[in-house]
Amino acid sequence: MCGIVGYAGTAPAQDASSSTGQRALEVLVEGLRRLEYRGYDSAGIAVVGANGIEMRKKSGKLVNLLEELSSNPVSAASTGIGHTRWATHGGPTDANAHPHVVDGGALAVIHNGIIENYSPLKADLVASGHTFLSATDTEVAATLLAEVFRGLPEDGAGSSEGAYAGIGGRLAQAMQLVAQQLEGAFTLVATHAEEPGVVVAARRNSPLVVGLGDGENFLGSDVSGFIDYTRRAVELGQNQVVTITADQVEITDFFGVPAEGREYLVDWDAAAAKKDGFASFMEKEINDQPDAVAQTLLGRNDGAGNLTLDELRIDPAVLKTINKIIVLACGTSAYAGQVAKYAIEHWCRIPTEVELSHEFRYRDPIVDERTLIVSISQSGETMDTLMAVRYAREQGAKTVSICNTNGSTIPRESDAVLYTHAGPEIAVASTKAFLAQITATYLLGLYLAQLRGNLFQGQIKDILAELAKTPAKIATVIANSGQIRDLARSMSETRTVLFLGRHVGYPVAMEGALKLKELAYIHAEGFAAGELKHGPIALIEEGQPVIVVVPSPRGRDSLHAKVVSNIQEVRARGAMTIVIAEEGDESVREHAEHVFYIPETSTLLAPLLATVPLQIFALELATAKGYDVDQPRNLAKSVTVE
Ligand code: F6R
Repeated sequence: MCGIVGYAGTAPAQDASSSTGQRALEVLVEGLRRLEYRGYDSAGIAVVGANGIEMRKKSGKLVNLLEELSSNPVSAASTGIGHTRWATHGGPTDANAHPHVVDGGALAVIHNGIIENYSPLKADLVASGHTFLSATDTEVAATLLAEVFRGLPEDGAGSSEGAYAGIGGRLAQAMQLVAQQLEGAFTLVATHAEEPGVVVAARRNSPLVVGLGDGENFLGSDVSGFIDYTRRAVELGQNQVVTITADQVEITDFFGVPAEGREYLVDWDAAAAKKDGFASFMEKEINDQPDAVAQTLLGRNDGAGNLTLDELRIDPAVLKTINKIIVLACGTSAYAGQVAKYAIEHWCRIPTEVELSHEFRYRDPIVDERTLIVSISQSGETMDTLMAVRYAREQGAKTVSICNTNGSTIPRESDAVLYTHAGPEIAVASTKAFLAQITATYLLGLYLAQLRGNLFQGQIKDILAELAKTPAKIATVIANSGQIRDLARSMSETRTVLFLGRHVGYPVAMEGALKLKELAYIHAEGFAAGELKHGPIALIEEGQPVIVVVPSPRGRDSLHAKVVSNIQEVRARGAMTIVIAEEGDESVREHAEHVFYIPETSTLLAPLLATVPLQIFALELATAKGYDVDQPRNLAKSVTVE
């Protein structure tokens, strides 16, 4: 939530990369364009040039800021900060947009997170004569930073060295002192007219990475903030302050003690985060799914049925003693966990619970050193999941992170990580990450089964061979999606849709409903088909669309027969039934108004196929209603507040 960009480059006069001296502005705008998925309630930038700080900000999407910049341009500059907001404190207005400029126009500050003690801090600042223009906690932090900055001697006299140590000078020192006083989660980034060429940031429990350039350096909420310019990134730890100039990066803790960051090379480039000619990122990411699954499988078995999860740095002896698995995740990632539960319990015979991260630590869960926590997070920054993982570690549990974002916080704070290699997911609604997450949890399940001897090598080999065929089958589902797209377009006036599934089809039904809710703003619910007659069937009336995920008739056929009965039950009460079934399953035809076939696969692998038509259904219906499928209202990707 909230996208942050920072830039320190060469002075405009020597700026070879831009004839207009607008390199800083270009970097900030490009960074915000790429980070807009993190929030789109407002956008703003501040640059530091010969005229000091120049700031522009506008409520609404980035396009509003761009219009403002073209009618009211800023001067050439070498340094700047930019922000795209998902509103927490204060509504999505111009006044509440970031940056907040204080100290008589000399200091600009942007922020992601929530400062929990902003109220007493604000009261103190008001008592000492400060006034506030916005309702944000950010302006409180900015005002405090200005006050602390002004309270420090200009030349650093009085500090231990008699002058400010390091490149950050007075602003970095002020930032350290302020960060010590703040409670809650924050990434704060500041630039000051009296220290041109310097950008200083502090982070606690909120994302920030550094990008290393040639004669320029960058800050971003994630690497997409600077991926157009460099793939060299540096991870920061918690409770750190980082200062960047055009040619230096300096990291300390909140007390000025020098610290190191881990440098890494981002394994995707700017092209991977482009629409590639698709109408939306979501459409592109749906089409990326065969690749996302294939890449996640790549290099993780030796072809003979032996899994080689080298990144899983937990002692196999410890994994053998595990007597319970708890999967922690939110939203779509939690549905991936629910799918995984069926497979892991079936293959490994380890009791597996799936818990929404935000509920976990408040229920006094039973967790000990024999519990394996598997967190699932596309972004690796979801605060609810991070807090749940920390809690579980405190109780002695071992933690594995299934994550799509290298360098993010959750994998760093876990004992081990299994990366999904879906590539950057830009559309706010998750698609390819979901399929990659299911794939990764299956690899983990098979690995545990191998280690603990629950499955024979030949069985694992067969499942892996079938998994390897999945990408091509997903591609077939996408290629044959014309019929479901037509149906979705014809249903743009629909007010409510119910989704039914059993076994692994149940979380798929819930995921289908979530996609429809978040993209098309239509009431949608996913139910376990067996639960229907315990209440939800009362919702069925003439014409009510019901989408049913039907299991393979070749698998557990009692399951198939029961779901077919459920279809008949709703149809008898007037429902319009839309069925996702396996190729060749003719038995469903007579009970359905519409049938969409997916290729044959085993019961446990079916979610990797059955989800795809539901994603496409939601995408098309939302598009027919004229909605922006990449940036649905009220949402943001990467939920970094609790
Ligand atoms: C829905 C969606 C969200 C995320 C959830 C968790 O389409 O994208 O429900 O799945 O916010 O996010 P991560 O996986 O980043 O922890």
